[in-house]
Amino acid sequence: MTSISISEIEIALLLEAIYQKCGYDFRQYSEAHIKRRLSSRLAISGLKTVSEMQFQVLHNEQFAYTLLHDLSITVTEMFRDPEFYKSLRQNVIPILKTYPFIKIWHAGCSSGEEAYSMAILLREEGLYERSMIYATDFNQKILDKAKAGVFQNDLIKDYTNNYQMSGGLESFSDYYTSNYNMFIMDQSLKKNIVWANHNMVTDSVFAEVHVIFCRNVLIYFKKNLQENIHLLFYESLINGGVLCLGSKEGLYFTDLKYKYDELDKKQKIFKKKY
Ligand SMILES: C[S@@+](CC[C@H](N)C(=O)[O-])C[C@H]1O[C@@H](n2cnc3c(N)ncnc32)[C@H](O)[C@@H]1O
Repeated sequence: MTSISISEIEIALLLEAIYQKCGYDFRQYSEAHIKRRLSSRLAISGLKTVSEMQFQVLHNEQFAYTLLHDLSITVTEMFRDPEFYKSLRQNVIPILKTYPFIKIWHAGCSSGEEAYSMAILLREEGLYERSMIYATDFNQKILDKAKAGVFQNDLIKDYTNNYQMSGGLESFSDYYTSNYNMFIMDQSLKKNIVWANHNMVTDSVFAEVHVIFCRNVLIYFKKNLQENIHLLFYESLINGGVLCLGSKEGLYFTDLKYKYDELDKKQKIFKKKY
């Protein structure tokens, strides 16, 4: 007799069903995250057990789609963690200025605020014209929102505040136009952004890039999956390339820590050694 509980068996079977049916692999995501999201969907859907959810995933496409959306947390902000962007200006921009062409990968870009923030920063530093930003996510719905670049007006105050605290050189209002209750990002910011569907767990190396952002994504993964993704990032970065993680993330538990220098310990910015 094993000590694994029935609900753990049900969750493992559900994640296997999602993988086999939809091709999305959540089997190595953190248990706490998966349990939280499934409990909330159980409560909303009126289903009684995770096994009932498994039946729905296999026989109800709309339900499977909703559950996929539940499992990918998409919370994000423009200039999220302003201190991080301040550090980018101080520690990373001088490195990027030495390159004739710059390729940047935002892995898990959600609705695009992070990529637009970077586009603004690059423009202010005179680097946008020689940059290409690859913004990827595995959630197509959120990627479509990112591509549209239309956000709710009630976010502007917080975003303007973040921009100012991050060391923004202009006025945030230079970068959007307001329309009823929405604001629309300046079209010229999109010129060098490529939006693409990419799954870090199941897809391979994305491109050879100078900078990778992967913030507030790896926290949802178990350690061994994080290790695989770190390897993917290491292989995708050029020598001397920069890896930017979120404040709750790190790479000290992987052997790859020896292969990076720390550019900013607090902001989790690392430079791949030559
Ligand atoms: C919390 S958001 C973070 C957005 C942004 N990086 C930030 O820090 O503001 C996490 C994003 O990662 C995406 N994501 C989760 N697992 C992924 C995977 N295996 N491949 C690609 N994107 C993934 C989710 O769809 C979601 O949009």
